[in-house]
Amino acid sequence: MNRKNDHTSGREDAYGRPHEKRLVLDWTKAHDVTPVEKELSNALPSLVAAKRALTKGEGKGADFMGWVHYVGEKAPSQLAEIKKCVETFSAHSNAIVVIGIGGSLLGTKAVYEALTHAFASLNPGEFHRRPLLFWAGHHVATDELSELLDALDNFTPSLVVVSKSGTTTEPALAFRVLKKYLDDRFGEKEARLRVAAITDPESGTLLKLAREQGFPTFSIPRNVGGRYSLFTPVGLLPLAIAGVDVERFVAGGRQAASDAMSEQNDSLETNVALCYAGLRNILYAQGYKTEALCHWSPKLRGVSEWWKQLFGESDGKDNTGLFPASAQFTTDLHSLGQYFQEGERNLFATHIRVVEEASVARGSLKRVVSIPEASLDDGFGFLAGEPLTRVQHEAQQGTFLAHADGQVPTLSWELPTLDAYWLGYWMYTNMFACGVGGLARGVNPFDQPGVEAYKSNMFALLGKPGHDGKAQDIRARLDRGARLRSLGLSTRT
Ligand code: PA5
Repeated sequence: MNRKNDHTSGREDAYGRPHEKRLVLDWTKAHDVTPVEKELSNALPSLVAAKRALTKGEGKGADFMGWVHYVGEKAPSQLAEIKKCVETFSAHSNAIVVIGIGGSLLGTKAVYEALTHAFASLNPGEFHRRPLLFWAGHHVATDELSELLDALDNFTPSLVVVSKSGTTTEPALAFRVLKKYLDDRFGEKEARLRVAAITDPESGTLLKLAREQGFPTFSIPRNVGGRYSLFTPVGLLPLAIAGVDVERFVAGGRQAASDAMSEQNDSLETNVALCYAGLRNILYAQGYKTEALCHWSPKLRGVSEWWKQLFGESDGKDNTGLFPASAQFTTDLHSLGQYFQEGERNLFATHIRVVEEASVARGSLKRVVSIPEASLDDGFGFLAGEPLTRVQHEAQQGTFLAHADGQVPTLSWELPTLDAYWLGYWMYTNMFACGVGGLARGVNPFDQPGVEAYKSNMFALLGKPGHDGKAQDIRARLDRGARLRSLGLSTRT
């Protein structure tokens, strides 16, 4: 089996297809470390069965498979509805605070950070002419929230509050604080015009509140779970306000959906979603318990965070599942690199490599950084005139080989370019692979019962109505734990 479904030289690829831009998953450096080829072929029938179930909306978690066809069937018409709100918000705001947590925030943050000028907030007028996005509701940390309030004084802000359930503590409290900020600053009447809500279409506190206050409201369909909601208004509304090319983003997602689901595309050589799902399951079964997603630009850190939530909440069931971790290279080659090379041999790496790297357009100019001639005797004169992208490329190749030599199976995604289309394509492909892999492994990839445990303790401790009676017991258990502490020597502050 070909371990790379594209070739980068010549006029045709390995299948005689004309050489065009496409997403590639290269698993050569996984197979070099551990035999996966035969297992992958053996797994094909179960992967195809899982793909069929997902496509037809059948099997475990069927009630939450609405996202599978949403991107192709509903997202395009949503964009038209979203447009009106975009115009209003862009006209009266130069900053939007997106309030949400988990699947209600991470995808938006990922795409925004990847596709927006890294220093837009320093010079919004020049680097980014649309409202900037800020984030809240994803923590309960006093420092960050109060510093956000300080920063907002320099802008004319609005809020997009996202919560499917409408009852999640972190976003609900952040919304309270930020809505009060708007009321105090603009008066209640204007503040109401500065809020949009994205929530369940039929019930929930946020929906009720939005109706009472007259906020424009967008729906997260009932059959779409948070971490699969990126192509619904959850991602599309704030990204559109921020000027991301959401049409292209949806086009990429739609194409990925059609490629993944096509009945003619059951081959591991051309169905990258099936292939990735299969490789993850096989490596896990072989004892590789951690998968590290390695991105090669700081701007992709958010993408890794989104990916970790997608796979972490979907896979971690019944005391099984790959642990999703992430690393930023080359940065982390100077920290985690040592562990990758010589630590426990129970992890595999999945890289995201952008084939044609370029800066976000500033005006219409795409810049390339060249290493300059310099009168510095720094030992790097031999690279003068070379583009920095060549250094990136050779660093990647060198790392893949070194890690494979160190017995780390290595997969590599190759994105033709980092733009809205290919990011949409890659993100949908990962969602589909996550669904297929979970179903093929026999878990429900669409629920997250485990996240309730901390909430029920916290609610009892906070005295939330309905949780009375449990606090005393919980406190007693916490106090028992607190006997075992080591106290530092110094007491002076
Ligand atoms: O993926 C999920 O379902 C979760 O991460 C949710 O998105 C997260 O808990 C936020 O929930 P809600 O949108 O109901 O506030």
